[in-house]
Amino acid sequence: MLSLSPLLSVGVLLLQASQLVFSTQTRCSTFTLRNPSVNAVVANTTFFKANDTVAITNPFSSIDVSDLPAFCRVVLAITTNATAKSTAHAEIWLPEPQAWNGRFLGLGNGGFGGGVNVADLGFVAIVQGFAGMSTDTGHLSSPLDGSWAGPHNDNAINDWSWRALHLSTVAGKEVVQQYYGKPHHKAYYLGCSTGGRQGLKEAQRFPEDFDGIIVGSPANWMAHLSPWGIHVNLQVMPFDSPRFIPADTWTNVIHAEVLKQCDAIDGLEDGILNDPRKCSFRPETLTCRPGQNTSTCLNVEQITAVHKIFSTYFETNQKFIFNGYYPGGEVGYPFGLVGTFAFQILPDYYRFFVLNDTSFTIDQLNDTVIQLGETINPGTMDVVDPDLTAFLGPAHNGKILQYVGWADQLISSGNSIHFYETVHAFTQANTQLDIDDSYRLFTAPGMQHCLVGWLWSKRLRQASMGMPPASLDAEHNIVAAMVRWVEEGHAPETLTATYWNHNNFTEGVGFTRPLCKYPQMSMFKGGNPNDAGAFLCV
Ligand SMILES: *[C@@H]1O[C@H](CO)[C@@H](O)[C@H](O)[C@H]1NC(C)=O
Ligand SMILES: *[C@@H]1O[C@H](CO)[C@@H](O)[C@H](O)[C@H]1NC(C)=O
Ligand SMILES: *[C@@H]1O[C@H](CO)[C@@H](O)[C@H](O)[C@H]1NC(C)=O
Ligand SMILES: *[C@@H]1O[C@H](CO)[C@@H](O)[C@H](O)[C@H]1NC(C)=O
Ligand SMILES: *[C@@H]1O[C@H](CO)[C@@H](O)[C@H](O)[C@H]1NC(C)=O
Ligand SMILES: *[C@@H]1O[C@H](CO)[C@@H](O)[C@H](O)[C@H]1NC(C)=O
Ligand SMILES: *[C@@H]1O[C@H](CO)[C@@H](O)[C@H](O)[C@H]1NC(C)=O
Repeated sequence: MLSLSPLLSVGVLLLQASQLVFSTQTRCSTFTLRNPSVNAVVANTTFFKANDTVAITNPFSSIDVSDLPAFCRVVLAITTNATAKSTAHAEIWLPEPQAWNGRFLGLGNGGFGGGVNVADLGFVAIVQGFAGMSTDTGHLSSPLDGSWAGPHNDNAINDWSWRALHLSTVAGKEVVQQYYGKPHHKAYYLGCSTGGRQGLKEAQRFPEDFDGIIVGSPANWMAHLSPWGIHVNLQVMPFDSPRFIPADTWTNVIHAEVLKQCDAIDGLEDGILNDPRKCSFRPETLTCRPGQNTSTCLNVEQITAVHKIFSTYFETNQKFIFNGYYPGGEVGYPFGLVGTFAFQILPDYYRFFVLNDTSFTIDQLNDTVIQLGETINPGTMDVVDPDLTAFLGPAHNGKILQYVGWADQLISSGNSIHFYETVHAFTQANTQLDIDDSYRLFTAPGMQHCLVGWLWSKRLRQASMGMPPASLDAEHNIVAAMVRWVEEGHAPETLTATYWNHNNFTEGVGFTRPLCKYPQMSMFKGGNPNDAGAFLCV
């Protein structure tokens, strides 16, 4: 008996090792949620071994890779309103127990999109060891399509506006606890655009849900963003009017002139305006001379349009609606809101959420319509109230890290500044808090809306485009920066953005640059311009 025991224990060890793999897989495939505090049931589970092909697509997001670490995919069906029998689906992607960093990461959506953010679940949560959660917001649709909201689909509107994310977060945390046998120790959130709005909504309405919330260029004010976008578009439309500005003119004429007038302000002529607030662009220098080829200059109506597009937008009674575009992003603006009216979101907001009139066209926008959006605030989607004290204050001690690209072509970067400033003013006037202790805004020179432009890899969809952060450390990776702030009290002063050559991760780093904390800007101080160290935040 005794002589057998060494062999036996080797056998037991081998058995345990294989059982570990076997048991996680079994635990995954047999997982059920016991006694959930919200009405949620497991709809499906799938275990993916390391390097298994993960190919998942929905109308909002997709992923197709075969280099992820092992994880368990749990799909939940959540009843959001029992009377209406409305449901939302959430997915929780769970790394192997030994690979789990002990944290929960909620991931946001985009536009009017319905669909779990599977790209961010894979490329951000699983790659970095988080238990990730994303909701489909209660419906399936492309980000541009708002037709699911009407007529009068109030439960779907509420689910998309706030309810699905909150219920999914509560249920997702229970999945984490029951799967690992212990709770997460901190909860984070990351989202851009509608995802940014969702993050701010969580901070305001459910301050307990997350400890750190990363907010990219938020669509937090649809009642003003929608009319602003329509207004900007109307400055140049219709296509056959003299004021129409073709995309080539935006790039070759207007952008070229912006660079001529303003590129050197930050100390470096590199095609990027590090701080477009410093640029007082004068389009008059482009006025057509007699006989000049009109594709190389601007007529008087086009000059007026450019001025309006770069100006703050007020209602006819002078009420503030939205900040204008900043100079520097002209290459993207005709593909954003100016010109091809691909941006169906904005009229859909009025057609399916506010007016319930599918015949609404953008030329019908007037002050009454704008006011109606503000009064109805469908599903209470907007986050305008500057009081975030319940989240930021000592009762919860939460952190918000916000970012926006100066060349944002869908939501003027001025919106991020406006929201930050209103929260700042409120916090200062009504509390003893120093906003810098809990809420910081970073601006990214030359970066477009959430995912394109010259880029910082923080943006999760960038990861799904093959552009992970240059390093997963807290300087290069906004998620790690937030974790360090929450868990070690080390607040980020700057963040380092990485541009991959040709926006292609395999082609190596093109340059790095600091993202400065608002209201600072980055100035070139000399040295290698491809190196973040050659810039100062001032
Ligand atoms: C569960 O997920 C797997 C793949 O992840 C899929 O093949 C299967 O159809 C799903 N089952 C249900 C009932 O949805
Ligand atoms: C997954 O692929 C990577 C890279 O090819 C490799 O290093 C690793 O050993 C693979 N893991 C497994 C479990 O196959
Ligand atoms: C649930 O749905 C019913 C039926 O549509 C509706 O009357 C009720 O107001 C909804 N409740 C909530 C909390 O949304
Ligand atoms: C349009 O429908 C939504 C959703 O039911 C409702 O909240 C809103 O008040 C309606 N708008 C008007 C003008 O009746
Ligand atoms: C005007 O300029 C555009 C672009 O440079 C060129 O394609 C076009 O041929 C020119 N038109 C005339 C009439 O010269
Ligand atoms: C504003 O537009 C709405 C919707 O088209 C229309 O019903 C209303 O009469 C307009 N109001 C004014 C003052 O023009
Ligand atoms: C990225 O670059 C590699 C070569 O380094 C190339 O094979 C690949 O096709 C490129 N990817 C894209 C999306 O262009």
